[in-house]
Amino acid sequence: MTTASVWEETRTFFPLFLSQIEKRQARSACVVGASDGKFVLPLARRGIHVFAIERNQTAVDGGPITLPGPTDTVMPGLRRLSEFIGSMIRLCRPRGGILGAEYMMPVEPRHFTIEHYPGEGNLRSHLPGWSIDWETYTPAFVEAPHVEQLTEHVHRMGLIIATRP
Ligand SMILES: C[S@@+](CC[C@H](N)C(=O)[O-])C[C@H]1O[C@@H](n2cnc3c(N)ncnc32)[C@H](O)[C@@H]1O
Repeated sequence: MTTASVWEETRTFFPLFLSQIEKRQARSACVVGASDGKFVLPLARRGIHVFAIERNQTAVDGGPITLPGPTDTVMPGLRRLSEFIGSMIRLCRPRGGILGAEYMMPVEPRHFTIEHYPGEGNLRSHLPGWSIDWETYTPAFVEAPHVEQLTEHVHRMGLIIATRP
């Protein structure tokens, strides 16, 4: 039996979020898009009560998946960004709840016309009145192949960590 996540090799800002919620001594956390638990387990091992939300049954239960190789893939669709952020806000505790989101930023020309690739500073406009603890962006970088994106590809990622007033 292996415990390595299928997302093991992909870049993440998660350690920054983890240190922020340790500093605030959060007792519960919700991971949206938990997949096979790469973020869930480090939280649970610290005694934090974790709610994991994942729509892919195979990611949760295990089973056959397509690992990186020369095949085509289908990316999941998203609802409107404001709706998605609104759902995440509703999961946060009313006062002092912390929201951490890492997200893809536009790189290819077609991305710049798609709402769910937010540009710099865009996400904070969805969080009026929140205190912004961290907001940062990577330059474009080459991401390793992973499930759902089976060849090397260029990504740019953003991070926002914010505290609810
Ligand atoms: C890029 S993976 C990230 C997995 C993990 N958080 C990590 O970085 O190691 C995104 C995950 O979010 C899930 N996902 C996408 N949209 C979702 C939604 N609307 N509700 C729940 N899960 C979703 C996908 O099935 C996928 O497992």
